[in-house]
This record gives sequence, structure tokens and C-alpha cells, in this order.
Amino acid sequence: MSGAKEVLPFVILASGAGSNCKALLAHARKHREKFAAVAVISDRAGAPALDLASELGVETFVVNHKDEGAMLALLKRLRPRWAFLAGYKRIVGSGFLHFFSDKGFYRVLNIHPSLLPAYPGLGGYERAFQDGVKVSGVTVHLVDSGLDTGRVLLQESFEREDDDDLESFMARGRKIEHSLYPKALDLAAAGKIHLKEAHGSTWVSVSGKAR
Ligand code: GRF
Repeated sequence: MSGAKEVLPFVILASGAGSNCKALLAHARKHREKFAAVAVISDRAGAPALDLASELGVETFVVNHKDEGAMLALLKRLRPRWAFLAGYKRIVGSGFLHFFSDKGFYRVLNIHPSLLPAYPGLGGYERAFQDGVKVSGVTVHLVDSGLDTGRVLLQESFEREDDDDLESFMARGRKIEHSLYPKALDLAAAGKIHLKEAHGSTWVSVSGKAR
């Protein structure tokens, strides 16, 4: 048996600007021995994330979010092990989730602009800023069938500064997003993401250090 570790095939789903998609693709390019982005999929033709992916030689697809048959056919062909939602503005279907089914969870992650369970849904930074919170942050979480309800994998907080306006507040969060999501890719590739249940709680355990 060779000691070589497997390369983790993953897909990214993105609807918008694609800065998180870019961060993941850049990380994957740096560590080709660990992961391979097999495609970037969007619900929106013309999403900048698709151009970014094409520039980096990653296959791109536009799939209507209502056409679960087309999505499943694509997944069966590409055979990704994990899916990373990066600004994907749709709820994924049950067939999609099932494709990524693992021991008690789905191998699907999302990045969200708040410290969940605070501010699920749209406008995480905006609502936190308007509410005057002192501490906000970013969450990477497992995806389930709800809206931003899956178990938390990673969180990183940042403080509101007295002279912050919405733009500077958001910029701090966005910077964190772009370093936090690649860490989740490391953990997924290292096979270190597991659900644990004890003391009446279920949480994501990250066993050991990511390679
Ligand atoms: C990010 O703020 C992310 O946290 C949220 O949607 C936004 C996507 O931005 N889920 P981008 O398209 O990755 O630049």
C-alpha cells in the first residue's frame, strides 16, 4: 500500500461576486496534493465567480436551482466528496444533500457573515451593524435542510471599532471570511470533520490537527 494521501475532490456553488470562491480556489491551487476543485456551479449565468473559475482552468456550470435532476446528474459525473457554498443564494435540495450524506451529516459547508445562530438569513453584517453589536463574526457551518441552521464548524469574531461605518465593519468581516473558509477545506481534506453527541448536545468535533 502506498502512503500517499488522496486528493479531495470538491465543488463550489456560488451566485455572486465570488470572493470566497476565489479564496478557496487559490488555496486549492497552492495545495494540489490535497484538494482539487472539480467545478464551480452557479444558479446564475454571468456570475463573476464563474469567470474567476474559468481563468483558473476550473470547469464551470450553470444549473437552475429548481432542476435537481440536472444537479444530481452533474454531481454523479463529477463525483465531488465535499461541496462548499460560497455566496450561493439558494437553499440546496434534499437530493443534493443526500448525495453528500455522511455519518449523521452532509459533507456540505456554508460560510455565513455572522456569529450564528445570531443573524441567520440575508444581511448578517448589515443587521449586526445597525443593532450596534460590539462583537460580530463569521461562521462556517455544516449545511442541513434549514436556513443557516446546520452545526457550526468554525467561527471567528471581530470587534466593532468606535469609528466604524458599515463599510469598514464589513471589510473586517470579509477579510476573515477569506482566511477562515480555506481552513475548512484543510479540515475536510484531512477527514477531521465529525459530529459528536454528548451531554444533550450535538456539535462538530475537529479531531486532531489538520494536515
Ligand atoms: C459572503 O459575505 C458570505 O459570507 C455570504 O455571502 C457573501 C458572498 O460573497 N454567504 P462572495 O460572493 O464570496 O464575495
